[in-house]
Amino acid sequence: MRKITIAIDGYSACGKSTTAKEVAAILGYRYIDSGAMYRAVTLYFLDNHISLTNPKEIDRALSQIHLSFHLNSHSASDAFMNGVNVENKIRKMRISENVSQVSTIKEVRHAMVSQQRKLGKDKGIVMDGRDIGSVVFPNAELKLFLTADIQVRAYRRQQELLEKDKLVDLDTILSNITDRDRIDSTRKESPLIKAKDAIGLDTTHVTIDEQVDEVVRMAISKILLKK
Ligand code: DC
Repeated sequence: MRKITIAIDGYSACGKSTTAKEVAAILGYRYIDSGAMYRAVTLYFLDNHISLTNPKEIDRALSQIHLSFHLNSHSASDAFMNGVNVENKIRKMRISENVSQVSTIKEVRHAMVSQQRKLGKDKGIVMDGRDIGSVVFPNAELKLFLTADIQVRAYRRQQELLEKDKLVDLDTILSNITDRDRIDSTRKESPLIKAKDAIGLDTTHVTIDEQVDEVVRMAISKILLKK
């Protein structure tokens, strides 16, 4: 059966990763969380005190960062940086508070987009992020753009963090996702936009299972479509 590329973009905490992960598992596709890549770069920049306004320092730092994904014992994909599992560290608020700023940097975007295209060159991939359908894979066969009410998004993100034993109050999460939405949508380099051929999905009143079913249905009809 022919393999396709599925791009899932949208605002922070709309359920992109959860949907993408489950759809990939059902189709037997590879799942790549592009946000994890920007988060790992942010972790490296913070830990190594990289100046966000010095392009030379940024280029040097980017050349030192090797990112990869490996399945863990729960069959989920963990992000590794230079051989070290950074999955836990990159989900902390310290990273969430800085990642959008780091993601505005042209050099960072170019490096990440080039790695993402390599990861997706054989298709059979579900990638979620902000610019996957618009910039990374403009020819993806299936493009989705997720939205949801901001209160619902904040509550869902709080539950997700709680499952990882991290208690963060709702106002902190709400203010973080509001800030990230603003920075992600207004940046100069590949801002968050809905690609014109992307299908919009409002997930406010939809369960994850319903969301996943719908995306799988759409994917199968694309897979079966003759080129
Ligand atoms: O998907 P996430 O919330 O983990 O992403 C974290 C940040 O990374 C997000 O606020 C913006 C940035 N990002 C991006 O600029 N482009 C992508 N393709 C994915 C994420």
